[in-house]
Amino acid sequence: MAGIIPAPVSLELRDDATPFRLTESSRLVASGEGAAAVAETFAGLARAATGFELPVVGGAAGASDLEFVVGIGSVPGRAIEGYALESGADGVRLAADTAEGLFRGTQTLRQLLPAEIERADAARAPASGWTVPAASVADAPRFAYRGAMLDVARHFFAVDDVLDLVDRLALLKLNALHLHLTDDQGWRIEIESWPELTGIGASTSVDGHGGGFYTKDDYRRIVEYAAARFITIVPEIDLPGHTNAALSAYPELNCDGVAPPPYEGTEVGFSSLCASPEREEATDRFLADITREVAEITPGPWLHLGGDESLATSEADFRDLVRRMTRAGAATGKTIIGWHEMGACRELRAGTIGQYWSFVEPAGDAVSLTKSFVGQGGRVILSPADVAYLDMKYPDDPEGPLGAVLGLDWAKGPTSLEEAYGWEPVGIVPGIGESDILGIEAPLWTETIATVPELEFMVFPRVAAIAEIAWSPSVAAGGSRSEVDFAARLAALGTHLDTLGVSYHRVAGVPWARPLRTGDVPRFLPMTPHILT
Ligand code: ACM
Repeated sequence: MAGIIPAPVSLELRDDATPFRLTESSRLVASGEGAAAVAETFAGLARAATGFELPVVGGAAGASDLEFVVGIGSVPGRAIEGYALESGADGVRLAADTAEGLFRGTQTLRQLLPAEIERADAARAPASGWTVPAASVADAPRFAYRGAMLDVARHFFAVDDVLDLVDRLALLKLNALHLHLTDDQGWRIEIESWPELTGIGASTSVDGHGGGFYTKDDYRRIVEYAAARFITIVPEIDLPGHTNAALSAYPELNCDGVAPPPYEGTEVGFSSLCASPEREEATDRFLADITREVAEITPGPWLHLGGDESLATSEADFRDLVRRMTRAGAATGKTIIGWHEMGACRELRAGTIGQYWSFVEPAGDAVSLTKSFVGQGGRVILSPADVAYLDMKYPDDPEGPLGAVLGLDWAKGPTSLEEAYGWEPVGIVPGIGESDILGIEAPLWTETIATVPELEFMVFPRVAAIAEIAWSPSVAAGGSRSEVDFAARLAALGTHLDTLGVSYHRVAGVPWARPLRTGDVPRFLPMTPHILT
């Protein structure tokens, strides 16, 4: 039984009708702007799995072909990421107004195919081919921004690990990967004008697990791989707090002119850029250089400048530094995103995006700070920590793939799959309505997570719940939120994750196709720490 996550707006499965067969003679027939490139990306996956030739061609499509069409009017309302899919005895026809919509449709197709589509070793489909059930799908997302975040500062993850994550997120129709590139424990992106940021500043991570950073070419590889999957990379340089790595690399950024030692612990709120006039020249040059260099290698529209937990910065200094850093960021032409604390600054560039990370029931002044962005012409990304933070523990302290109990619990205790699935974005921040919400993001902070299997254990399956909240229609708009139905579809997704070798948590209550076997070992060995050379 096919199960699609996130649930499409409309899906008709005709189990009694003749399915489509993907066979050795199938072709991908592409027409319209960008369709051939999307077809090639899909063909790359399908060729590796089947060993079939699957040429991408133009012309007329036959009953054994998959047609990929980009053309205005393919989906109602011209939804940018919308698509329409028809499959059956006459072939597959996937149509969208944009290449982006077409790509989203290929991920539905991927989930409708047998899980062997995920194999990279030419599984050799049977002579009768692989089937796609007869189906009609019409689909478009609820929110424009559907993201996940990976903290590569507390623990560093290699480029190939990030690419794998991008592919898994694309399967769930997410369209943004926010990379938390800097924090107290490490600076992970090359800045040519401040080379010690990735010298001294990248030498450490939490618990002495070694350092690492992305060269500009590494970062470009991530951006390019993500772009082929219509995922935008959102770089975050966290300022003015969470800056010990930068401060340890450059004494002139410190008020006392003394560089602190590199930091390998997990405390927050102890570091800050300096707002005093004696440091103004160095700090403003730093802000201009880092925002310019990061913006230059970032084709996407956003630049995240942090702003959270600046507990070592006075309120007046915080507002001054936020004004200066957002000004420097906006000078690059990017739209600035900041954690909701940045809303304390009343001089944000119009349109600045606020990222809410309080709870489903807001605490402290999170509501007024978040509304400040909307008051200044911006919109909001919701990441309520008690339901959307992927680094919160699971209930019952399950051991992760390498034996450790993973995650934190400060956000109202552990977060179950049901909690990750059971919330509604509108109404969390009073006064913030549907049109004020740019989207939803699920962050993974990595204080306790040092390896790919651990990352996968925390991300999957809860990110699938967040993807559905971000994509599928709200209950008020006619969507449904049945935990039982979601669990059944998750079990189907699990077969794909199994084939991909993803070490997801086999959460109880989901009818996983392959039960956990005692002695299951993760596919990956513990990651070799990325030692700087
Ligand atoms: C955060 O969790 N400090 C944004």
